[in-house]
Amino acid sequence: MSLDSLQEFIAAIDAMGELVRIAHPVRARLELCEIANRCSKLPGGGPALLFEHVILDNGARSAFPVGINLFGSMARMSLALGVERLDEHGARITELLNLKVPDGFVAKLGLLPRVLELSKFPPRVKGGAPLCQEVVWRGDEIDLDQIPVITCWPEDGGPYITLTAVVSKDPVRGIRNVGMYRVQKLDKRTVAMHWQRHKTGAEHFREMAARGEMMPVCIVVGADPASVFSASAPLPPAVDEFIFAGFLRRQPVHLTRAVSCDLEVPAAAELVIEGYIDPSEDLVVEGPFGDHTGFYSEADLYPKVHVTAVTMRKTMVYATTIVGRPPMEDFYLGHATERIFLPLLKLTTPEIVDYHMPAEGGFHNLVFVSIDKKYPGQAYKVMNALWGAGLMSLAKVLVVVDKEIDVQNITETWWAVLNNIDPERDVRFTMGPVDVLDHSSRAFSYGSKMGIDATRKLPEEGFTRQWPRVIEMNDETRAQVDTFYASLGIEQAWKS
Ligand SMILES: Cc1cc2nc3c(=O)[nH]c(=O)nc-3n(C[C@H](O)[C@H](O)[C@H](O)COP(=O)(O)O)c2cc1C
Repeated sequence: MSLDSLQEFIAAIDAMGELVRIAHPVRARLELCEIANRCSKLPGGGPALLFEHVILDNGARSAFPVGINLFGSMARMSLALGVERLDEHGARITELLNLKVPDGFVAKLGLLPRVLELSKFPPRVKGGAPLCQEVVWRGDEIDLDQIPVITCWPEDGGPYITLTAVVSKDPVRGIRNVGMYRVQKLDKRTVAMHWQRHKTGAEHFREMAARGEMMPVCIVVGADPASVFSASAPLPPAVDEFIFAGFLRRQPVHLTRAVSCDLEVPAAAELVIEGYIDPSEDLVVEGPFGDHTGFYSEADLYPKVHVTAVTMRKTMVYATTIVGRPPMEDFYLGHATERIFLPLLKLTTPEIVDYHMPAEGGFHNLVFVSIDKKYPGQAYKVMNALWGAGLMSLAKVLVVVDKEIDVQNITETWWAVLNNIDPERDVRFTMGPVDVLDHSSRAFSYGSKMGIDATRKLPEEGFTRQWPRVIEMNDETRAQVDTFYASLGIEQAWKS
């Protein structure tokens, strides 16, 4: 089943029993964040929330309900991407990457459905009256104050639209980008666009500015869940996120032309804020913002977007998210990325068995990698490869362990790492670009990185002592105890 809109996603969440509707009046300013934050800290990520009575900053009741924490559990993230387990998409990608033409006519025919599956993915532009343009505000009608844009944390620079899919186009190659970048509401008709310097939207902006051209952008809020996720995925600039969303959905994303600029947006989107950036205009102050590191990121200068139209569904549900001290909803979006991109990392670095970005590391601060080590120096080879791979280049601490270690298990990984390292021998520092949110680096977006080689050392790596065996019970004893262990009542006694 592919979910074609955010409202279908919310209905499916409701059907699985993970939606809590909140009728109590809640302010868009801070209160909604406080509730969502408490909710995300529940074991497993807490339920999705639908706030039905939201109080706007002007004291009026919002005409639109607010959905939050929609992606905030493993089950809902899997639902969003139409799978039972997130690894399934990784397996589909592996299959595509292994697409070797087999021998024999019948075998070749068997290949056809998979190739056809690929050709179904490109988004389709639909004519007619799309849902996302049931209501259109232009000119003086445009009033972002009517949208329940939330102010998350007390020291934030203002209200932020957070769960976005920002559409832009590469002016040279015409390739579309869709990125999840937060947007600060400045007033009724302008917003500040927070695409960080390493992101594709920012690159499009630099290209447009160099050409001295106005840059059209569409800020989509609430589309089909695969498109929302794809906006957050670190795809290479040459890959259109809507094609990727089509692959995940196994159905093309339906697009429609924006009403006031030359871009396409998902036809079933809840809300689209269309506008342009004038590169000749001064940048504006954006921030501070309570960020996903758990700290406020400083105010900085970003482009201003002039809104030319706001379009929405009649029954618009405003989707948003908060970030802050982990774990939050974004952990689940990031985890889906982690699972889906594993085969792509393996393509260039085949010794990688698995990797994991624990919630505490907020994606870029800590990456555990397990490898099938065959030769000396291989852990460093993997670190260098990852520090050269797309947004993985921003990783601050990379920890490499042997393939037996389950890197999804954080306690097990630290147990292995702390036992296996001789710190002076196994820790290396290097330099590189770092996440712009890193407040500790010596310079903005530039700093050092640490690689920890916690793999078993080989003689060529200077290790000549005996490597100890891991303690494990023998199979015979385990099997024998299995036959009566449950009857001892130990676990029931502890749970009750
Ligand atoms: C909830 C959430 C908020 C995000 N906010 C921003 C942001 O404000 N600016 C930014 O550059 N990246 C932000 N990101 C990360 C980007 O969405 C991510 O790096 C994505 O791959 C960027 O797309 P791009 O590679 O097409 O530029 C956010 C991610 C999530 C999950």
